[in-house]
Amino acid sequence: MNAPLRKVVFPVAGLGTRFLPASKVVAKEMLPVLDKPLIQYAVDEAVDAGADTLVFITSRYKHSIADYFDTAYELEQKLERSGKKELLAAVRNVVPKHVRCVYVTQSEALGLGHAVLCAKPVIGDEPFGVILPDDLIWNRGAGALRQMAQFAPSRDAGVIAVEEVPHDETHKYGIVDAEKADGRAARVRHVVEKPKPEVAPSNLAIVGRYVLPGKIFELLEKTTPGAGGEIQLTDAIAALLRDGDVHAYRFDGTRFDCGGKAGLVRATLHFAMQDPALADIARAAVAEAVQPN
Ligand code: UTP
Repeated sequence: MNAPLRKVVFPVAGLGTRFLPASKVVAKEMLPVLDKPLIQYAVDEAVDAGADTLVFITSRYKHSIADYFDTAYELEQKLERSGKKELLAAVRNVVPKHVRCVYVTQSEALGLGHAVLCAKPVIGDEPFGVILPDDLIWNRGAGALRQMAQFAPSRDAGVIAVEEVPHDETHKYGIVDAEKADGRAARVRHVVEKPKPEVAPSNLAIVGRYVLPGKIFELLEKTTPGAGGEIQLTDAIAALLRDGDVHAYRFDGTRFDCGGKAGLVRATLHFAMQDPALADIARAAVAEAVQPN
C-alpha cells in the first residue's frame, strides 16, 4: 500500500477484569509504565505510522482516556508560570497538533469485533489500523504498525501481527495457519479463535495490531457471537480470507502483554533499564527482592 495509515482505532471498552480491583475505577489503558500510561505508547505508535485521526472506542467507565488527551488549562498555566518547560511540553505533546481524537461509545462490551464495528461511521471505506493498547510493542526503529502499513500489498489486503507463543497457550489467542513465510510476512490460509493446543493449527498467535480494509465492516455486521459469546474480530478476518488477501506479519520488536500483571512488570523493568537514571536502581531493587528473607 505504502501510503501512511490515516486512521487508527483503539478498542478500549473492555472490562479489564485481570486488573480488578484497580480497574474498577482506573481504566486498564491508563495504567502507567513508568510515567506514561499504556494508551500513550499506543498513540505514539499510531502517529509513527502516519495517523492523523485516532478513534477511541470507549465505555462509560473510561472517561479518563478522553480527559487525558484533552487540554489541561489550569495545569498548563501553572507549569508555564513556574517555568517548568519540560513538564509543560510533556503535558502538551500527548498528541501532536495535527492529530484529532474521536470518541465513540460501545454501550455494551459485546467483544473486540463489535468494538471495531463501532468505528465504521468514522472510518468509512478506507484501510485503517487497529491497536490494542495492552499489547505494548517496543522497537528501536519503526513501530510495529508502521512496519505493517509499509508491508500492506494493497488497499484490500488485511495484515495481522503475529508472534510465536508456547504451544500450551494457544487457547488464549487467535491462531493462524499460514503458508511458508517470505521474509516477515506469510499469506494466511486459516485463522481460529482460542483453539485448544491439541487442535491448534500452529503456535503463531495474533497479537494486538491489525491493518484492515474498509470491507471488514460488512463482514463484522454479519458476524455472530463466537468464542466466549463475544463478536470476535478473528471470525470476521476468517470471512475476509474467503474472498480476500490476509497476511500474517512477524513484526520487529518486543511485545509486552500488559493486559495482565506479568507483562506489566516485565514492561516496567524493561523501560527502567532503558533509562540511565533508573537502570541501576531497577537492577539493585531486583537483586534485593530476590534475596531470601
Ligand atoms: P481483552 O480480551 O483484553 O478484554 O480485550 P478486557 O476486558 O480488556 O480485559 P480482561 O480480559 O477482562 O482482563 C482485548 C481488547 O479489546 C477491547 C479491550 O478494551 C482490549 O483493548 N474490547 C474488548 C473492547 O473494546 N470491547 C469489548 O467488548 C471487548
